[in-house]
Amino acid sequence: MNRHLEQEGDNLKRLAVLTSGGDAPGMNAATRAVVRSGIGHGFEVFGVQHGYTGLIKGDFRPLGARDVGGIIHLGGTMLGTTRCEELRTERGCANALGQLRAHQISVLVVIGGNGSQTGARELQQRGAAVVGVASTIDNDLYGTEVTIGTTTAIDVALEAIDRLRVTAASLKRAFLVEVMGRLSGHIALTAGIAGGAECIVIPEVETTPEAVARQLRDAYARGKSHAIAVVAEGAKYNAEALARHFHEHGERIGFDLRVTRLGHIQRGGTPGVYDRMLGTRLGAAAADAAAEGRSGIVLGIRAGKVASTALEEVAGKQKAADVSLLELARVLAM
Ligand code: F6P
Repeated sequence: MNRHLEQEGDNLKRLAVLTSGGDAPGMNAATRAVVRSGIGHGFEVFGVQHGYTGLIKGDFRPLGARDVGGIIHLGGTMLGTTRCEELRTERGCANALGQLRAHQISVLVVIGGNGSQTGARELQQRGAAVVGVASTIDNDLYGTEVTIGTTTAIDVALEAIDRLRVTAASLKRAFLVEVMGRLSGHIALTAGIAGGAECIVIPEVETTPEAVARQLRDAYARGKSHAIAVVAEGAKYNAEALARHFHEHGERIGFDLRVTRLGHIQRGGTPGVYDRMLGTRLGAAAADAAAEGRSGIVLGIRAGKVASTALEEVAGKQKAADVSLLELARVLAM
């Protein structure tokens, strides 16, 4: 965990930072903190444009304190990001390592989620020094209770659910609201419970269209003026599949039904205070770790404190959502 790329004949301390995978609100706060804390520790800091794709191409730019000014309040990522298939190949990895050596980078900070930290592990295993920062709206990264971006993304979903409930109640309708989460039901569970949903469908727990129809029908029978089902996109039956099934099988749900897919609207929001602080704390901690010669780790939060987990443990794993919340949602939907 303490390996830093060997450099011959000089004492250059150069740190590079990149963002990777899906953008998440708070990534900019993290980038800013890495740069400014890194400078504070005496590093010369470089930004890598467009994630691992930029790393493989050698798309580096020096970053000073002023270059990361005016970004803490912005969603997205000033560095750009990609989902980079090339890093999954030996050749891609070799090129990335070659660029780190050519630019005399002693430590690389990777701000991203599951795929990004798996890439970070590959580079670390091949001799680079990498520090990960936990960032994905899905909040499904192992080793941290919360990731950068998830709180803001859930707030965006929640605002949409609140609005849909108002129109649903006015017209006595049911809505299937699809939220993000390919493998994780964290967004659906949290936005669903906080939004008072009548039904929540997540990838971790298989359900049937008949069971969803029953929950909506029961809400109608209990005299509700509306019913909201929050469905994670990665569930076996997503919102479209459920609506199609109801239609094809003449499944009665009582209410008139509408479908809303929130999609990428959940990603680009203005980071709230929690994500700005989280990005700032984890970014600064990444620069601290780099200065102390610690690498091969991902920084996240446990029990409210910054905590590090070995990249080896994080890579390729999936943090499960708290499925016990489904029962809470069921009880409260009465
Ligand atoms: O970054 C995570 C995420 O937003 C998932 O919730 C979603 O399934 C996926 O990214 C969408 O990916 P893309 O932006 O590549 O379509």
